[in-house]
Amino acid sequence: MIDKDIEKAINKQINEEMYSAYLYLAMSAYFQDINLLGFANWMFVQYQEEISHAMKFYRYLIERGGRVELYAIEQPAKQWDSPLHALEETLKHERHITQCINDLADLAEQKKDRPTLNLLQWYIDEQVEEEANDEEIIAKLKMIGDSPHGLLMIDSQLAQRTFVDGAADEE
Ligand code: FEO
Repeated sequence: MIDKDIEKAINKQINEEMYSAYLYLAMSAYFQDINLLGFANWMFVQYQEEISHAMKFYRYLIERGGRVELYAIEQPAKQWDSPLHALEETLKHERHITQCINDLADLAEQKKDRPTLNLLQWYIDEQVEEEANDEEIIAKLKMIGDSPHGLLMIDSQLAQRTFVDGAADEE
């Protein structure tokens, strides 16, 4: 049976991941609205990834004999000032998620819960990748400045992203 404090913290993290999904879906809709369909695709894949992050915690909690509890999901913003602004907000949000995962790892360490620590290692690695991806796009957006041509080039690169469920459990 999983520790009650860990159970509660994982339920909170399921909500954080579901909010992340909601935020990126809202950003995908924003990019659709301004006709940057590559950015919209990238954000839609990001939304799918966040659902899979939530579901990895969901499956784990059940496997450990815990009880899943779904909390209300906060309403995300609808509008951003520019693609750069949306990506900067994405990075800020991912840094917050990294902090949540680190706090969860601190709790698991304190409780000497090795299976949860093992699970969290996957999320720790994922967060490094998530922040790096955002930083790369931000750097490119800063590089092109106000160039519409540069923006369309980045848009066509982001159109290539496809969803691979990296959070799926290995058999
Ligand atoms: Fe699930 Fe983007 O962290």
